[in-house]
Amino acid sequence: MRKKIIAGNWKMFKTVQEATQLVVGLKRELTDYVAVDIVVCPTFVNLESVSDLLVGHNIKLGAQNLFWEDEGAFTGEVSGPMLKAVGVEYVIIGHSERRQFFHETNETVNKRLKAALKHGLKPIVCVGENLSERESGRTFDVVKNHVTGSLAGLTKEDMAEVVLAYEPVWAIGTGKTASSAQAQEVHRFIRGLLAGMFGQDTADAVRIQYGGSVKPENTAELTSQPDIDGALVGGASLKVDSFTAIVKNAR
Ligand code: PGA
Repeated sequence: MRKKIIAGNWKMFKTVQEATQLVVGLKRELTDYVAVDIVVCPTFVNLESVSDLLVGHNIKLGAQNLFWEDEGAFTGEVSGPMLKAVGVEYVIIGHSERRQFFHETNETVNKRLKAALKHGLKPIVCVGENLSERESGRTFDVVKNHVTGSLAGLTKEDMAEVVLAYEPVWAIGTGKTASSAQAQEVHRFIRGLLAGMFGQDTADAVRIQYGGSVKPENTAELTSQPDIDGALVGGASLKVDSFTAIVKNAR
């Protein structure tokens, strides 16, 4: 039985004061709530303050990216050891906004993923088609390309640490959610790809989140699909009430 995992991607939102306020609120609502795994992913500059508030807590800390080298002359980047040192446990890799605005490719996603695993961070690897790809009937080709390219060279053991997130780009921040049937169809396809790459046992164990306009009202329907194991939440993770409701509605 795969445990559901709900992660909040705070993107480039929240000053340190706002981030700590949000975490204080989430702790008030979700302390000892262990029915699902809960992760929050603030910006790099807010990781340490949020981390201090989450010491020993069931809400876990994630980052939104990492660089593949441990240290060096890479202005503006942050490494795996640096994330580990402030108590980060999860890291989002290959989010569509990074692919779209920061020229991430399967190759760079794969390098970041391997760096995360090397440093004992649990990667949340994002895949998904954009609107023109869906409309031209290329959803499965694009998702296959993202999954096989991003996970190239990983072992079954590595996959025990990895969470995948299927995020149709056309559903991100648009208010347009994929229907639960549309999402389930792609999730099942991804699990089939994983079975081909790593064997059925591994495919059955990997958690695949859905992301794209997840809100309290659609969480139960989405997460009750057989291959949807949680959600990666953007906009609705920025408020205590909506994120708490999403966590509690996950089935
Ligand atoms: P959204 O973002 O929930 O605001 O659509 C999801 C994401 O980008 O992870």
